[in-house]
Amino acid sequence: MAGTDPVNDGGPTITNQKTNMKMKNILMSLAALALMSPVARSQSGDTGDHHMDWWREARYGMFIHWGLYSIAGGEWKGKDYGKEQGGASAEWLMNSAKIPKEEYRATLAPKFNPTGFDAAKWVSVAKEAGMKYVVITSKHHDGFCLFDTDATDYNVMDATPFKRDIIKELSEECAKQGLKFGVYYSQFKDWYHRSRGKGFPGTLSNEEYLELVQKNLDELLTNYGEMAVLWFDVGGNNVIEADAQGARVREMQPNAVICSRLYSRRVPVDQQKYADFNSLPDRMLPAKRMTVDSETCMTMRHNWGYDRTDDAWKSEKDIVEFLALCAARGVNLLLNVGPTPEGTLLPEETERLHAVGKWMAVNGESIYGTHYSPVDYDFWWGAMTQKDQTVFLHVLEWKKDGIEFNGIVGKPVKAYFLADPNKEPLPVSYDAAGHVTTVKVPENAPDERDTVIAVEYAGPITTDPQAKGKYHWYTTRSKRHTEIRKRKGAGEQILQEAVKEAR
Ligand code: GLC
Repeated sequence: MAGTDPVNDGGPTITNQKTNMKMKNILMSLAALALMSPVARSQSGDTGDHHMDWWREARYGMFIHWGLYSIAGGEWKGKDYGKEQGGASAEWLMNSAKIPKEEYRATLAPKFNPTGFDAAKWVSVAKEAGMKYVVITSKHHDGFCLFDTDATDYNVMDATPFKRDIIKELSEECAKQGLKFGVYYSQFKDWYHRSRGKGFPGTLSNEEYLELVQKNLDELLTNYGEMAVLWFDVGGNNVIEADAQGARVREMQPNAVICSRLYSRRVPVDQQKYADFNSLPDRMLPAKRMTVDSETCMTMRHNWGYDRTDDAWKSEKDIVEFLALCAARGVNLLLNVGPTPEGTLLPEETERLHAVGKWMAVNGESIYGTHYSPVDYDFWWGAMTQKDQTVFLHVLEWKKDGIEFNGIVGKPVKAYFLADPNKEPLPVSYDAAGHVTTVKVPENAPDERDTVIAVEYAGPITTDPQAKGKYHWYTTRSKRHTEIRKRKGAGEQILQEAVKEAR
């Protein structure tokens, strides 16, 4: 029973399965991915999927984990159940602390009165951060609905003193401020309405539960204007069930973008009929560029939901780096906030978002609407994105002797710091043997988080198919993909090594 999984990263964990089964499934999914099924669509070329256009352009959105669990802040009866390193995150409290549903509801629902909640404020923080869409947990695994629903009384209007439809307020505000709005919806795991394993029955039978999901979807797709994203999570293995839910979304809001977690990761990609984008495991930077539409979601500290004691904040640089590396690998970034029980964003969150927003205000062109790196590797100093005839070098680690890259054919016509309003040209040299381009730079990095250098070409960008390189930047599974690392000794690996055969 997947409902008792302690942790997961987007698909039910496989603890009860034999390892060879797990491997087999991973291999099958990888094979299917390699075939580039029509489901996980290509980022380039016209495949008649225009509802994806805004999403591909957006590149960067806000994820919000908020619900009854936020009141508890990762603690239950004096014990800390938060964190994510090896344990579950704060929104998993009900499951981690084995709290019976009645007790969870009776303890937390009457306390849910976040009078500090101001949708206009949240949305303007997202907007100023340069984010283009907002996705909030309308129902997480604990089963509690943050919206007005007739399908259950376990919702913000009937079960809490707050009695304000959070989804309505946020959706209206997003429409007003011009951001796309979508909902996270836990369709498979529901520890309140559906059984979560032996000793923990749900309030509903399985059939009744599926009806509840359908009613909820109908409400979410009818009452809140345009629903831009349906962010399903932790899908089960029942493809028929998932397909019915996906079909409902398509029918009611044909332009909604559907997350692949509608399906379990065990379902081969070519059978994920309604998945519009591939949701990577939580916080993961994929090992190489993704040629199918993909998104990574990332926390600002360990937890998704509000946790009272989690101080593992990522720095501004960490976030900017991750955003740049995601874009270079063709991946959208959905960056999470976990608002407080009072309904406010934490100062640590707003400060970071503000700083990233300032970076985006001058460097956004190197992220929005860009394409994954033209070359199938990155560089020890960073990585590149591409738009039309320009490549953007995201320099995460400075090299005063010059920023060099191989693999793009021809000398660029111009290079300049993207943040420089005068676009003062930087000297460029080009060596046709190995196609090595070097941009001369000043001694100190203009922006230590990520200095973007725009490199413009006179015609379409052509790459050398023989060009060699490595992926230097990665996140590790052992740290739940939470830290960005660089291959050891990457700096010493001089580029000439990669091009010596050509010379
Ligand atoms: C996982 C967790 C969940 C969190 C989500 C975010 O699937 O179950 O708590 O909401 O990841 O991606």
